[in-house]
Amino acid sequence: MNKHVDGMASRPLRTERAGVVVTRTGVNLGAEITGIDLRKPLSDEQFEAIDAALVEHALIVFRDQDISSANLMDFGRRFGELTVHPFAPNEGKNAPELIKFRNDENTPPFGTDVWHSDETFRAEPPMATILCAKEVPAVGGDTMFVSMAAAYDGLSEKMQQYISGLEGIHDMKPFRPLFGKSQEERKNLQHFELQYPPQLHPVVRIHPVSRRKVLFVNPQFTVGIDGMDERESRQLLDTLFHQALVPEYQHRHHWQPHTIAMWDNRSTQHYAVHDYYPQRRYMERVTIKGGPVTGLPKANPASVRKAKFAAPAHVDTHGGHKPHR
Ligand SMILES: [Fe+2]
Repeated sequence: MNKHVDGMASRPLRTERAGVVVTRTGVNLGAEITGIDLRKPLSDEQFEAIDAALVEHALIVFRDQDISSANLMDFGRRFGELTVHPFAPNEGKNAPELIKFRNDENTPPFGTDVWHSDETFRAEPPMATILCAKEVPAVGGDTMFVSMAAAYDGLSEKMQQYISGLEGIHDMKPFRPLFGKSQEERKNLQHFELQYPPQLHPVVRIHPVSRRKVLFVNPQFTVGIDGMDERESRQLLDTLFHQALVPEYQHRHHWQPHTIAMWDNRSTQHYAVHDYYPQRRYMERVTIKGGPVTGLPKANPASVRKAKFAAPAHVDTHGGHKPHR
C-alpha cells in the first residue's frame, strides 16, 4: 500500500505572470497556458513564466496555436539546443530537428504505445519534448502522461531506500527491429549500437531545477538494473514500472488541431494511446537537449544485500495497488 501522497492540491488553480495565464488541469501534473501567441517571439518575462510552469506542472498545454514548423522550432530553441533523433522520421538536411509523425491507414504508429521518457538510451536524455497537433482523429489518439515524481513519492519508504543509489541500464532496443537482415542493414545497426551504447542512469534521479526525486526507469528503454541478475532485475523493474500505471499519478491529454503539449522529460513518462488506426493523425515534434542525469549517491552494496533479504514491511493480501486518497 502506498503511503499518503499530497498531490499539492493546495496550490492555486490559476496564476498569472507577465500576461501568461497558467490554469492547472491535473492534481499531480498538467496545466493549460493562455495569454500568449506562439507565432510571435516571446518576451524574456513570458519565457520565464512558461519555463517555471513547465517545471512546476511537468506537462503544459497550449490550445489554438496555429503555428508553422519554423515557429515550433523557434519556440523550442528558447529552452535550449534542439536535438536530432537518430531513428525518427525528420525533414532531412533542411530541418533534421523537426520530427514529423504521419500516421494513417498505411502507416500505423510505431513504438509509442509503451510507457517511456523520450530517448533515455542517450547519455544525456532530452530535458523536454514539444508536440504540435496538425491533424487529429475524430475520436481517440489521446496521450497519457504520468508524474514520475508522484510515482516515486507513492513508493513505500522501504522501497525508496532500497532503490536509492541503484542504476538502471537503458538501451536502444525498441529501434533494432527497424533494421533489416541484409549485410548492409546489419552494418548500419552496428554503427548505431557503437554510437549509442547502453547507458547507466540513476533509478532515482534528482530533478535539476525542482530538486524533487523522480523514479527514472521505463519499460521502453530500461532493460536491467546494474549489478543484479536478470530475474532480480525483472522483478524489481516490474514493480517500479507498475508505478506509471497508477491512475492517481496520471493525466490523459486530449488533442485538438493546433494543440501543443510540452512535457518535462526529466519528471514524466507518456504513452500514445494506439486506438485510432486507421484514422489519420499528424503531429510535429521538437526535442530539447538535456544534461547529465544526476541521482542519489550510490548505495553501499552491503546495505543493498541486507535490504534484499529483509522481510517485507507490509504484505498486501489483496494484491492490489492502493494509493491513499
Ligand atoms: Fe515519446
